[in-house]
Amino acid sequence: MNSRFYITTPIYYPNGEPHLGHIYTTLCADVVARWHRLIGDDTYFLTGTDEHGIKMVKTAVAENVSPQELADRNADIFKQAFKQLKVTNDDFIRTSEPRHKLAVQEIVKKMVATGDIYLGSYEGWYDEGQEEFVTETEAKAAEYKSSISGRPLVRYQEPTYFFKLSKYVEPVYRAIETDALLIRPENRKNEVLSKLKGWTADLSISRSTLKWGIPIPHDPEHVLYVWVDALSNYITALGYESNETNSSLFARFWPADVHLIGKEILWFHAVYWPAMLISLNLPLPKQIFAHGWWTSEGKKMSKSMGNFIDLSRVQQLARTYSLDALRFYLLRAAPFGSDLDFGEPDFIKSFNELANVLGNCLNRTLKMIGRYRAGVLGPVTHAPTELDQSIIAAIDRFPGALQGAYDKLELQQAVLLPLELARQTNGYIDATAPFSLAKDPAKAAQLDTVLHLSVQAIYRALVGLIPVLPDKALEGIRQLGIDPAAVGTDPSKLWDHLPLGHKVGEGSPLFPRVEPANTK
Ligand code: MSP
Repeated sequence: MNSRFYITTPIYYPNGEPHLGHIYTTLCADVVARWHRLIGDDTYFLTGTDEHGIKMVKTAVAENVSPQELADRNADIFKQAFKQLKVTNDDFIRTSEPRHKLAVQEIVKKMVATGDIYLGSYEGWYDEGQEEFVTETEAKAAEYKSSISGRPLVRYQEPTYFFKLSKYVEPVYRAIETDALLIRPENRKNEVLSKLKGWTADLSISRSTLKWGIPIPHDPEHVLYVWVDALSNYITALGYESNETNSSLFARFWPADVHLIGKEILWFHAVYWPAMLISLNLPLPKQIFAHGWWTSEGKKMSKSMGNFIDLSRVQQLARTYSLDALRFYLLRAAPFGSDLDFGEPDFIKSFNELANVLGNCLNRTLKMIGRYRAGVLGPVTHAPTELDQSIIAAIDRFPGALQGAYDKLELQQAVLLPLELARQTNGYIDATAPFSLAKDPAKAAQLDTVLHLSVQAIYRALVGLIPVLPDKALEGIRQLGIDPAAVGTDPSKLWDHLPLGHKVGEGSPLFPRVEPANTK
């Protein structure tokens, strides 16, 4: 394969600690990044924090600290949490870093130079939680409350610089309509297109009543609108408009392959960001994927309702069931792009699926090879039966199907396909009954075939799960007698079969039973 792959998450507001929503996007991006590294792509994975804007200021005031102190404290918590969750981001950008601020000022200067920024005045509604301008029609429809938080919208009236968004409506529309800029899922693309059709307003991009932000270079009384500042992170982190040595990253990785985001921030990414890029004469990202939102036990997550899945709850789940079981659950919970609902019974169900389908398949295969063949893999000399043929077909189809799922970002499929292969292998073992074959010396060749095909199948399933279960899949592969450090070092050998005469290792449960008493 060996192509380049650049994936980003939104940069999160560090006005609090990360919660399930932030962790979900980040882990999904991590799985995709790990997949691309596994197949040999030159991969770059970016995440970070979005530290300016009124929302940060208000929280800082409430906590009696400066916005910078608030950002420092929580950005650190985000970083530590991601590290603990074994997120493999290549960089973590903070928008209060000089490297970002300086580059953003260059970006604004360029837009001023092309005549895309002008001074005017804004009067209208603002959603301070979302940092979003809301049109009169939308405000009225939502009874002048935030459609996300339900808090009252705020009336703004102030001099402001505008970005000529109206000039770019048509090219942005065309890029989305033709999929030159792919927006997925399809229904969200259509929502954006219908809102964009006939859009005439320019975008207010500065605030003169706010001090916490990046000053507009030629008029430092104004700070830049936080979304223009934040969206730029996708290129400033690569060294765009920077003198630093890492600017070669920009040439190497821009345009991004995927901006992975939550559905509530699609408009900013699908409209403002491409318009900014066209203004800067830069290529558009290839794809924006808007995933769904988590509710918890059927309701919106909320601290007051007591159903909020905060960082410590996520960490506790990872401690109890393993980090890999958490990753599996999050991706398994719904087709990628749909809304999802968190519930511990579901979590336990998906943990049991891992144990009973994947863990069991590995364990019984290893046990049989150990017992009947002293751990050594025999040949297939027996003419394949129909049952053999169907497992052979499943083994053969698997890499292509998995690649297809990742290419389309069908992340639920990406976790289900390996599980299906293991499930089918279990069914194959049940149907061929190696236990009886072993009793009849005349059926030795048939037994060899069953053991051989079962172990090849579980090996493939485990390799396919490396991005999702980085620890457990490699542990399983180690039990199969392969040095985990060697897996994936040569992507062209990723789907190689285990060779004849290969000696498998000892099996031990990959997902040991969790006593209910340990779950709290
Ligand atoms: N700072 C902006 C993004 C700027 S990107 C240039 C922002 N930050 S945020 O802290 O509010 O994080 C938003 C992201 O967190 C969402 O896009 C989504 O990825 C994730 N989620 C937050 N709550 C969520 C759920 N309840 N469910 C799923 N994901 C959600 O917006």
